Parts: sequence; structure tokens; C-alpha cells
Amino acid sequence: MSAIPTQDAVQAALATVDDPEIRRPITELGMVDDVQISDAGQVRVTVLLTIAGCPLKATLTERVTTAVSGVEGVTGVDVQLGVMSDDQRASLKEQLRGGQAEREVPFAKPGSLTRVYAVASGKGGVGKSSVTVNLAAALAQEGLKVGVVDADIYGFSVPRMLGVEHRPTQVDDMILPPISHEVKVISIGMFVPGNQPVVWRGPMLHRALQQFLADVFWGDLDVLLLDLPPGTGDIAISVAQLIPGAEILVVTTPQQAAAEVAERAGAIALQTKQRIVGVVENMSWLELPDGSRQELFGSGGGRTVAESLTRSVGAQVPLLGQVPLDTRLREGGDNGTPVVLSDPDSAAGTALRGIARSLSSRSRGLAGRSLGLTPAGR
Ligand SMILES: Nc1ncnc2c1ncn2[C@@H]1O[C@H](COP(=O)(O)OP(=O)(O)OP(=O)(O)O)[C@@H](O)[C@H]1O
Ligand SMILES: [Mg+2]
Repeated sequence: MSAIPTQDAVQAALATVDDPEIRRPITELGMVDDVQISDAGQVRVTVLLTIAGCPLKATLTERVTTAVSGVEGVTGVDVQLGVMSDDQRASLKEQLRGGQAEREVPFAKPGSLTRVYAVASGKGGVGKSSVTVNLAAALAQEGLKVGVVDADIYGFSVPRMLGVEHRPTQVDDMILPPISHEVKVISIGMFVPGNQPVVWRGPMLHRALQQFLADVFWGDLDVLLLDLPPGTGDIAISVAQLIPGAEILVVTTPQQAAAEVAERAGAIALQTKQRIVGVVENMSWLELPDGSRQELFGSGGGRTVAESLTRSVGAQVPLLGQVPLDTRLREGGDNGTPVVLSDPDSAAGTALRGIARSLSSRSRGLAGRSLGLTPAGR
């Protein structure tokens, strides 16, 4: 007969269990309330949930059971679930904020190492949301910590495209974002009952975005992508105000009218002093069964946009890639698994993964980032 498991061994096993939403060990989060070990090797663990209705109860129970069952001498595991007291919750929040003041946008702090990309376009329907979710999933697959804010308050589509199934958990005023395909996702759609259209005016939009950025527990992200609504409206200005270091990623189609788009995006970037990280041309061509390409929307739009932006902002704006039309991309959006994961080697999947690589190869951190400083003496 093997020896009775020790407290230390069980605690060590529990330290390998991450909270499914917060992604930190439950032992560090003060979630393990009590561990009792019987002479027969039966272990009873009491785990405290952040809130009573925690949607991931079952996952947590399963993880704890699996981890503790692996300890030598354990003959059975019984997981009891409790709920944190107000004080316990307050200290957890304090710990997660790590000294960050309430209402503060972590990505706007001078030392923030998170790269923030605002995905923008002049026209609607060019594929901003599709590009956003695919880049997010591809970057996460490369091992980066990624978050997405669906800032398209009117036409939220990101949760569906990423297959997000549950609403965020709210721990008092702190919001824990759902995680899908290893991407943390937050969208106004998650706070609206049913699928009602939201009619919000400028100041409310600004506040909603600020709340998404400040009250959501993002943890330490490498990349944050913001899916902006079409056009160059209030929200683009809000992004620039809330996160001055955010860079703009322009999505366009090959159509010639795209040149206008470029001018508008360029004007905004100049006004807000934001950098444009590059241009993605979407819906570039359709690959025919014989391997030839049919350019349904003309050609050259992406390059034209990149060149004219380069001229207007006075800095090199690259064409980051061309994404062909691909039914699998649309299907991926409809069923919640981005094409870069469901069919990575498809034409669209390959192109999008290439763009993600060019973004991730830019080093994390402050190097090369505009600091939004005005020249001395002005
Ligand atoms: N390369 C592509 N191949 C096939 N379908 C695509 C492609 N890009 C986008 N789509 C489809 O086109 C539609 C519009 O795309 P998406 O919603 O990403 O655009 P958007 O710019 O975010 O639109 P909106 O301005 O309404 O927010 C979606 O149904 C999407 O699946
Ligand atoms: Mg969209």
C-alpha cells in the first residue's frame, strides 16, 4: 500500500491548476480554501469561486480532480465549491490590478509593452472583422498573449466569428473576458440582451470603450487588436485618446475607390499622431479550379493605398499582404473557428498567417514606437 499523500504534494498539484478565466494558478488567487486528506488517501478540496454563477465551474472541478488524482497515494478526489466573501474578492481584485488604479487604461501607461493595433477601413464590409479575428487566432497560435476588443459598437460580429459562447464573468466592477481559441475577447454584444441593435451616441461610445479597456482584466498581453466600425468616426478618435500608442492597420479591397479610403485614414493618423502599421488588401482575387486568379474587384488597390499613405504620412507604410476570396474564410466566420485554425493551408489561411507573422516579428516593446511627443520649443 502506498503512503498517504502529503499536504505539500496535494498543494503542489493544485498549484498547476489555472483558473480558466484568469489564467493564473488557483493557489495564487486564494481560491483553494481547504484541503483535507483521509487516512485512506481520499482528498477533499474546497475551491472558492469568484462569483456564485461562475460559468466555468465544471471545467474547474475537472481540472482540480485531474491534478489531484495524479498525486501518489490519492485514492479519490472530492471537490467542494464555495464562493469568495466580499473581502476575499476585494483582495483578489487588488492582486489582479497589481497596483493599477481603477479606471486606468493599462495600455496607455508609459511602460506598457502591449502592441495595440486598431483595425480600420473607410468602407463597411471589406473584411475588417474577419481580418481581426484571424490575425488574433494566428498570433495566439504563435504563442503570443492576445486580446480583441470589438469596438464596432453598432455591428458587433467578433464574438460569433471567434465562437465565444459565454458572457464575461463580472467580479464586482472587474470584467473577466471569455477566452476562445486562446484569445481574450470582449464585445458590446456581450452586454446587450438578445441581439438588439445598440443606438449609442459619441460620449457613450467613448465611455464604453474606456470601460472595455480599463475594467476588463486583460492580464499581460503581447498584442491587443481593436476591431473598429467602418469609416473614420468618433471611435477612432476615442482610441487615439485612450491609447495614444495604438497603431492603425488599414483593411481595403482592391477597388480603385480605395484610394479615397487611404486619404481619409491618413488624415486621421496625421491628426491623432498615430502610426499606420500597414495595409491589408482583402478579397484580392478568386482562385479558379484551374489555378488561375480571377480579380473580381480589380487589382492594385492595396498597393495604391499603401503608397498614397506613405506619401501622406511621410513614413513607410507597407502592404502587409493580400488575402484572396475564400469560401472557407466566410464559413470559419460563421461557425466560430477562424480559417487560420480550421484550414491553415488554404489560400486565405496562408495569407493571413503570413500577415500575423509579419506583425509578430516586430519586436514587443517601446522600440520604434511613436511617443506622441511634440518637438521641443512648441
Ligand atoms: N477573403 C474573404 N473571402 C470570402 N469571404 C470574405 C472574405 N473577407 C470577408 N468575407 C466575408 O464578407 C463579409 C464581410 O466581412 P466582415 O464582416 O469581416 O467585414 P467588416 O469590414 O468587418 O464589415 P463591417 O463594416 O460590417 O463591420 C463576411 O460575411 C465575411 O465572411
Ligand atoms: Mg466588422
